[in-house]
Amino acid sequence: MNTETPIEPFVRPAIPDDAEGIAKVHVKGWQEAYVGQLPQHVLDRQSVPTRLRMWAGLLKDPPGSRWTFVAIDPAAGIVGFVGGVRARPVMFGPAFKVPVLYVLQSHLRRGLGRKLMHALGDAMARHGAGEVALWSLASNGSARSFYERIGARLSSVLVETDRDGRLVLAGYRWRSAADLAAKSGSEHD
Ligand SMILES: CC(C)(COP(=O)(O)OP(=O)(O)OC[C@H]1O[C@@H](n2cnc3c(N)ncnc32)[C@H](O)[C@@H]1OP(=O)(O)O)[C@@H](O)C(=O)NCCC(=O)NCCS
Repeated sequence: MNTETPIEPFVRPAIPDDAEGIAKVHVKGWQEAYVGQLPQHVLDRQSVPTRLRMWAGLLKDPPGSRWTFVAIDPAAGIVGFVGGVRARPVMFGPAFKVPVLYVLQSHLRRGLGRKLMHALGDAMARHGAGEVALWSLASNGSARSFYERIGARLSSVLVETDRDGRLVLAGYRWRSAADLAAKSGSEHD
């Protein structure tokens, strides 16, 4: 056996060739995480080809406005990912947003969510100060516990109604990307 082959899952910046792996985790991640939280027909219509087209485009965005990191299990490929973007400048708005974060159920509670958020916070911090914000389903207790564990504060609650029904969202913020990087970087905070 090659003793230099990493056997533990690790996190690295995404490359364009990761689009398919990310698309698969995006769809599976939704379907695993939101059973009972979103209508089943919304979960059923998630599609890998649609997500693949989306990610193939996003991964070509110029550096400095979007950051994507993948968690890789050498035995299984991509098992998680996080995506962050620079936010549109609005008064009192955050500088950065985190629209997507998924770790497959098979790899939960192994520190990958923390490592993904740490890598993202670190990359964003090199591009500015200002708050980092995200939305979680208010019913998503796992994600909310995770965000609170890595130092986010609950900043708002929003009720949205669309053709699929009523959604209650919980907004979380860190005071800066550097704060996110620091608070997700250590297990002893
Ligand atoms: C939220 C998510 C990314 C966390 O990923 P993870 O790799 O399991 O998280 P980590 O192992 O890094 O957890 C770090 C700490 O967060 C807290 N935490 C994580 N999951 C938790 C849970 N389900 N309940 C309570 N605390 C939790 C714990 O303190 C954990 O440390 P510990 O395992 O040593 O106790 C993952 O649960 C996930 O992908 N869920 C499905 C998709 C989803 O909900 N995405 C977020 C959309 S807003």
